[in-house]
Amino acid sequence: MSMQTPYKGLSFLSSLSSSIMASIAASLIAASLCCTPAHAQTAPDLTKMPWMNKSLAPDERANMVLGQLTLDEKIQMVHGAGWGVLREGAPIPAGSNFGAGYMVGIPRLGIPGIDLADSAVGIRMAAYQSRYATLLPSTLGAASSWDPESAQLYGQVIGRELRQQGFNMTIGGGVNITREPRNGRNFEYAGEDPILAGTMTGNLEKGVFSQHVMNDIKHYAMNDQETGRNVVNVLLDKKAMRESDLLAFEVSIGIADPSAVMCSYNLVNGDHSCENDYLLNQLLKKDFKFKGWVVSDWSGTHSTVKAALNGLDQDMPGDDNFFSEPLKKAVQEGQVPTARLDDMVHRILRSMFAAGVIDQPPVRTVVDPFRGRDDAQHIAEESIVLLKNTGGILPLKTSTPSIALIGSHADVGVLSGGGSAQVDSPGGNAANPRPGGSHWNEVIYFPSSPLKNIQAKSPTATVTYADGTDTAAAAKLAKSSTVALVFVNQPMSEGHDAASLALPGDQNALVEAVAAANPNTIVVLESGGPVSMPWIQHVKGVVEMWYPGIGGAQALANILFGDVNPSGKLPVTFAKDDAQLPHPVVPGLEGVSPAASAHDHHVKAFDLTYTEGAKVGYKWFEATNKEPLFPFGFGLSYTTYAYSGLTVDDAQRTVHFTVRNTGSREGTEIAQVYVALPGAANESYQRLSAWQRVKLAPGESKDVTLTLHPLSLTIFDTASNAWQLLPGDYKVMAGPSSSDTPLKATLHVHP
Ligand code: BGC
Repeated sequence: MSMQTPYKGLSFLSSLSSSIMASIAASLIAASLCCTPAHAQTAPDLTKMPWMNKSLAPDERANMVLGQLTLDEKIQMVHGAGWGVLREGAPIPAGSNFGAGYMVGIPRLGIPGIDLADSAVGIRMAAYQSRYATLLPSTLGAASSWDPESAQLYGQVIGRELRQQGFNMTIGGGVNITREPRNGRNFEYAGEDPILAGTMTGNLEKGVFSQHVMNDIKHYAMNDQETGRNVVNVLLDKKAMRESDLLAFEVSIGIADPSAVMCSYNLVNGDHSCENDYLLNQLLKKDFKFKGWVVSDWSGTHSTVKAALNGLDQDMPGDDNFFSEPLKKAVQEGQVPTARLDDMVHRILRSMFAAGVIDQPPVRTVVDPFRGRDDAQHIAEESIVLLKNTGGILPLKTSTPSIALIGSHADVGVLSGGGSAQVDSPGGNAANPRPGGSHWNEVIYFPSSPLKNIQAKSPTATVTYADGTDTAAAAKLAKSSTVALVFVNQPMSEGHDAASLALPGDQNALVEAVAAANPNTIVVLESGGPVSMPWIQHVKGVVEMWYPGIGGAQALANILFGDVNPSGKLPVTFAKDDAQLPHPVVPGLEGVSPAASAHDHHVKAFDLTYTEGAKVGYKWFEATNKEPLFPFGFGLSYTTYAYSGLTVDDAQRTVHFTVRNTGSREGTEIAQVYVALPGAANESYQRLSAWQRVKLAPGESKDVTLTLHPLSLTIFDTASNAWQLLPGDYKVMAGPSSSDTPLKATLHVHP
């Protein structure tokens, strides 16, 4: 690691606040200490410091450190040291690891800096230091596995590589539900159901934490669209929020016990999230019993005293001048009690001790790209969803004489998501190599070639690629091939939403042309979220592979040729078109051209009442009697399953049923249980309550016993500010998807 960089940038320092200057100076001293011969320095003897006693509780250790800190040191810990590598020309804080943010540590007390990195689907900005980072499937894709173990593996990959790169914190953990299916960031979240999304994201972040890396949940809260994200004021009553978006946070926070929660850019019921007393103090810290610290989204802080009193603990990236000198002054003048500043610092320190970043700091190692790729491929194989398979066109036979591959750079790679979740591709963009890392909103392909992997599966087949820009040429190739695979894409990124569910560009016309030329057409989707499919009746197969990560093409080939039996199920509803959605136009984009929508700051401040309330996704479709293109929970397999014998244990609130593999291949079925609450709940929809992946050999049956998720059975009662279990009869339904629940029974809840 170069020690020159900080000095090179000194001319920029004049523009920084004095507190940041002090922090940087402290770090420069620390940095210089590191290079002085050992005999010439008086390094602190960490072993003599009482808080280094590992047998003490994190809170106790944090209090001991807190007692030693000066006011300036405390202030230093509650804000970051600037934009660093994220903003061109910004100085890079000395001692930082070139991540998205850096909190300068207190070396005299043995407290390291906090080096955090964006790492939603893999570690961002790797190219900056010529590092390698594994690109995992999109988290929305991974949520299609409905597999908490797979989610933990996902988090372990991220945590492992963060440590190997020298970071001690992730700022991934997005759990905003798919309220707006065109949201540019859906790919870095986990779908529309709060319990599924919360479970998957919570387990992912638990996986990160298992690697002694601090973990995070974001963007708290109601940051469900990118359009106007800095100015939109989301208006929703507490009941609706608690039963939808906030439930996803409650579940994920309960599982992950995160080090930090990142508050979002938008306003909720009149206050910015990062200075929202209800969200931060009352709910997160009191009701959810969150012990970590609240970190602002980058430049999401809007005040000093209000934010501090209403629950924000750390301002990032820290150049806003809210939590540096102004906070010190506010504390000195008594506007912010010292106890509140101490609480902020305590929360940070206790999380550092709890994660082990002080006892077991990261050790730089070369990231193992092979292990990462294998893990990514495993997750992708569980994530891919088979949506259509007419006449058993899939799996393909290895003896297929000729296969046409059309579109979406399927010769060289697979698509990735953009924005702060962008991972740099090894060797650069596979579709358009050039020196350097990826640029904001650039469409990046990773070198996992569908063409090569499909050819490897069927060595005797003629596998030919057409890029799809010439529709007639693509149709001609399709006509002369046994099977045509059309790859279509929906590039998505932070900062803007898709203007519509339609595939961008001429891709729908391309699919129609290929399907007209070859009856054996299969569409492979690389999408950030749900898309419409006007051509669905004209194609035989549809495979949703999301953004599949660095092992994506291998996983796809395994699925296409049947080496892996698809098991993924949709974590989001696919609407037929935009008109079916609660908001046919993305709120804020009415009358705005799609080009202007690419920049959220073009949108003027507006209030947004999400009229669907808690009825997000499948709940909306059911309540409004609409039939989607593909329902939540849907996904096909190369085998078939039968469900039987549902019974309910009223006392235990468990359900029991049997799943049998009625086909001739081994497979894994995601069995789902839904509940409909008694009439008094006044709900016109069912809720996902439990699920399990069931692996079955041909002909095999397994008995499944599942506990209904307690929060799927309760309504939120605003008057008592508590979850309420209504007495009465609950319908219990089990089956392969939200729209196919052949088993029915009743749960009786007695008063
Ligand atoms: C995003 C966050 C991200 C941060 C730092 C913000 O624009 O909303 O998700 O972690 O930038 O890159």
